[in-house]
Amino acid sequence: MTARQSSDTSDTVTPGWYGINPATDDLKTDPHARFAHLRETAPINLTPEGRWRLSRYADIQQLLKHSSVGMRHRNGLIPDHSREDSENSKFMLRMDPPDHDRLRKLVSKAFTPAALAALRPQVQAVVDGELDQSVRAGEMDLAEDFALLVPAASMCAMLGINFSDRQRLSRLVSHATYILAVKAFPELQGKAHAALEELAGYMLDLIEERRANPGTDILSAMVMAEETGDKLSTEELLQQGIGLLIAGLETTIGLIGNGMRCFAHYPDQFELLAANPELAGSAAQECLRFEPSVPMTVRVLWEDTDFGGVTIPADSVISAHLIAANRDPAVFSDPDRFDITRNEARHCSFGGGIHFCLGSHLARMNAEVAFASIARRIRDIELDEDNFRWAPSLFRIPGNIPARFALRS
Ligand code: HEM
Repeated sequence: MTARQSSDTSDTVTPGWYGINPATDDLKTDPHARFAHLRETAPINLTPEGRWRLSRYADIQQLLKHSSVGMRHRNGLIPDHSREDSENSKFMLRMDPPDHDRLRKLVSKAFTPAALAALRPQVQAVVDGELDQSVRAGEMDLAEDFALLVPAASMCAMLGINFSDRQRLSRLVSHATYILAVKAFPELQGKAHAALEELAGYMLDLIEERRANPGTDILSAMVMAEETGDKLSTEELLQQGIGLLIAGLETTIGLIGNGMRCFAHYPDQFELLAANPELAGSAAQECLRFEPSVPMTVRVLWEDTDFGGVTIPADSVISAHLIAANRDPAVFSDPDRFDITRNEARHCSFGGGIHFCLGSHLARMNAEVAFASIARRIRDIELDEDNFRWAPSLFRIPGNIPARFALRS
């Protein structure tokens, strides 16, 4: 560790990248050795650009559950955003209390256990219908033809969107993710804004339609959600709708796509799942831990706080590297082993504190249906690694996973 223990302050920490510079390093393909190096050599790290980064499980849990942190600076600015952009930004993940709590409460009304339970058979029917056709060929793109299909089916059912629009929405959502990383990817901001504008037009039409003809979908529930006379405004609805697409579609494609790559790399675990479909839930958790699609989240610290003997000053922007915490040997035994029966501490892939992922149950339900359904049908997955591609997304989302396999009899 560069910083000295116990009495250190930000003045005595030597800034550095420690092998993790998002502008120059490939952090998608094989990030784990790099993050292990960061966690071991500079767990409380200050980058040359002045951003703090945490990579140990305990420090990240402390940050996410800290009562004096927010998504914004205390003056209301979102890090790296102008006053105007900050004021216009209303998705709950970018808000602090009390606005955050009000939005989350209203949107949560649509995420009931009953809504989730009603969605499961719809997702299962789409998956069964598509897989029965596509696996026959003995080869398919596990990203485009499978990983995309499952969350698209549930997001489309949830928001009442046309299933045939799934490719277009997925492309737009990929591009839009870069809006979350203005500083690291300035050259992609034009594309991100154009994608957001197109998504806004699409979502606005849907909202108007639901206002006129409310259905049983979650968007209708959001349109009608009311809490002691309070409702979501059109702008708030629009941003929660787009936000849910960005937060829910890409990330779940990543969970299923990255998970299928794990199963191809660890066939014994795939066989274990096929023989024990009741393990689909814990398999989803292990995929989330082992290859998370959202590698980090961010907070702004509102008061000087000690992390592992280093005092980080108030108003610092801190990146929490969830991907590194998920393989922290202080918490997970033999962390580089993929084990779908693992029953240890909760992984960090859904974040924590008041912003803990609102769609975590939905994402896990999608992955359970996906993994159990495919394990029932195929075996001996062989990946065409030369033609594997990441999606053009800020997150770790496979875009193409060409694969061959045998059918189970
Ligand atoms: C594997 C899939 C998913 C992953 C890895 C994931 C990950 C995350 C992460 C890391 C956060 C930020 C938490 C924090 O900073 O503490 C988050 C927040 C959020 N996610 Fe997810 N997510 C997934 C699926 C979904 C789905 C399917 C939905 C809904 C359709 C969803 C909706 C949200 C919302 C609304 C928030 C903001 C919560 C708040 O600010 O209170 N997510 N998610």
